[in-house]
Amino acid sequence: MTVLEKLTSQQAIDLENKYGAHNYHPLPVVLSRGEGVYVWDVEGKKYYDFLSAYSAVNQGHCHPKIVNALVQQAQTLALTSRAFYNDVLGKYEQFATSFFGFDKLLPMNTGAEAVETALKIARKWAYEVKGIDENEAEIIVCENNFHGRTTTIISFSNDENARKNFGPFTKGFIKIEYDNLLALEEVLQSNTNIAAFLVEPIQGEAGVYVPSEGYLATAKRLCEAHNVLFIADEVQTGIARTGRLLATCGNCSCVDKNCSGTPEVKPDILILGKALSGGAYPVSAVLANNEIMNVIKPGNHGSTFGGNPIAAAVAMAALEVVRDEHLAENASKLGEIFRAELSEFAKENSLIKLVRGKGLLNAIVINDTEESDTAWNICLQLRDNGLLAKPTHGNIIRFAPPLVMTETQLHECIEIIKKTISNFQK
Ligand SMILES: Cc1ncc(COP(=O)(O)O)c(C=O)c1O
Repeated sequence: MTVLEKLTSQQAIDLENKYGAHNYHPLPVVLSRGEGVYVWDVEGKKYYDFLSAYSAVNQGHCHPKIVNALVQQAQTLALTSRAFYNDVLGKYEQFATSFFGFDKLLPMNTGAEAVETALKIARKWAYEVKGIDENEAEIIVCENNFHGRTTTIISFSNDENARKNFGPFTKGFIKIEYDNLLALEEVLQSNTNIAAFLVEPIQGEAGVYVPSEGYLATAKRLCEAHNVLFIADEVQTGIARTGRLLATCGNCSCVDKNCSGTPEVKPDILILGKALSGGAYPVSAVLANNEIMNVIKPGNHGSTFGGNPIAAAVAMAALEVVRDEHLAENASKLGEIFRAELSEFAKENSLIKLVRGKGLLNAIVINDTEESDTAWNICLQLRDNGLLAKPTHGNIIRFAPPLVMTETQLHECIEIIKKTISNFQK
């Protein structure tokens, strides 16, 4: 079989099942093309994409500006490793640090790698700047977090599926309840070995849990008072997804660091991934100011592909699209419509318990148990009706379309969702 040979959906699924490790449980649909908010399967059926590759494709599938940057750079210089300088990385670092308002950026590839990087930076800062005794530093994390699946990260996960038989685990993490400031304060007051607090501004994988108003800002103030770094994992929430450039931004969605809008929280360490490349290439980054980032010295950390010229060119183009096409504003506006319409619908449909989210990161909670397969079955019927979404739990469906969606398209999608849920039969 050659790569050019056309497969049916079933053939593609059979090949993956036979030759691929079974580390995912995909919805049975085989995609072969994407453009903007749409994807097509190998039989030519068109769907609205309501997952956006877990919020990586915020700028829409195959955005011409991003694809062009990718192709141009791939034809010029793809990879040097960091053994040598390249003529794109510095430009990207200057661009991105000014875009997000930090002194420095450390480039990596995947979200989990960027989280690992942030944890390492925080520990080194704790020993060399804060003065914690070596190997004693602890990092506070939240219950039901999702930060990736490396050995260290699963060490502080609640997901038994991700943990079982992958031990022994990495020490040095203290888990507290999400959205619980008292719990945070208690640990900060009772333990002087805390290096950092790692938090998702909205818990995406857990089921799109939006914390209480003011939670992040107060948590940041508590961290400051105890000389503890506030690390925001914005891998999923960042890059305009929640209706602002970052979910930790204030009510202003502009990308100008001198703007008068109040940042709700300025993290000490910001972790980005996914939509940093518009989904065209694996690009992630950790941003921090000099007093933190300067603890990293040659040889402390790195990656052959991190900061390669393609990644740098793609990320710059992807961020320009976010700014020039006002994606944060669009996400904010469409998100309001989505939640208003579905909340109204939920009043008369007993299958929906709750609609929640921010910007275009939303979820519906189904009136069934976490262990049920109701959300999965609804997603199968949504697929049949031309819309692709994925459950985060047995009873929660996340809705996260590309942010380039128009209001007309959104209304069409809302109709598909309402119709599917109204006609849903187990
Ligand atoms: C908040 C958060 N952090 C980290 C990750 C891990 O990113 P990656 O899958 O690129 O390793 C994810 C992925 O969903 C995420 O949502």
